[in-house]
Amino acid sequence: MNILGIDIGGSAIKAAPVNTDNGSIAADRLRITTPHPATPTAIANTIAEITAHFNWTGAVGCGLPAVIRNGIVCTAANIDTKWIGTNVVELLSVKTGLQVTVLNDADAAGLAEMHYGAGSKASGTTLVVTAGTGIGTALFRGNALVPNTELGHLLLHGKRAEQIASAAVRTRQGLSYVDWAKRFDDYLHRLEELFWPDLFIIGGEISKDHALFFPHLTIKTKILPAGLRNDAGIIGAATAVLR
Ligand code: BGC
Repeated sequence: MNILGIDIGGSAIKAAPVNTDNGSIAADRLRITTPHPATPTAIANTIAEITAHFNWTGAVGCGLPAVIRNGIVCTAANIDTKWIGTNVVELLSVKTGLQVTVLNDADAAGLAEMHYGAGSKASGTTLVVTAGTGIGTALFRGNALVPNTELGHLLLHGKRAEQIASAAVRTRQGLSYVDWAKRFDDYLHRLEELFWPDLFIIGGEISKDHALFFPHLTIKTKILPAGLRNDAGIIGAATAVLR
């Protein structure tokens, strides 16, 4: 079954039809720069453009970088604050005329990894960490997701972890992977001592460069790069429709 997966990020909105039988991307991806300001109206217009581009008439799954509880957006770290209190499921369903499912973007990436990627054989506790514009997390016990964990906001040396160790911070501050790895390692140690996971899966835009920083990490927990790399957000958004 093909479902349209959309990954709404701080810098780009990426979409593709996903074959949910095997988690593969079923047609060329579309990438659109995230409108600024990233207000509900601006994003909803972009989502409508995307569904029109694919002539889509079926179900749609969307990941948004925010806490989403019962369809309502509760936080807005890297998107416009007008999102807070918005019923995003209603907004996008009305705008596109389609059945739309929405969840946190890191939760979406996590679902994809647990179904089709690096976590497909995992048992115990898995913590998926995505580093991009911000840092997102998805916590699993077995295949059961604890949604909206927001551990990228954990305080590290008095600052939110994502303000120190996201991929965007690395680029902005011109840090080498070796220097950035020290910060990311520090963060993973904090997660390790609080959650004692059996496995870390590292996703987001930095996952493709894992060979450049994994050797500099000193955590004890097993760690794997996201098997689906940065496509996990799209694939997981589509997967979420079936849950
Ligand atoms: C947001 C999370 C999101 C993460 C990754 C954070 O700033 O608060 O909801 O999962 O960025 O995009």
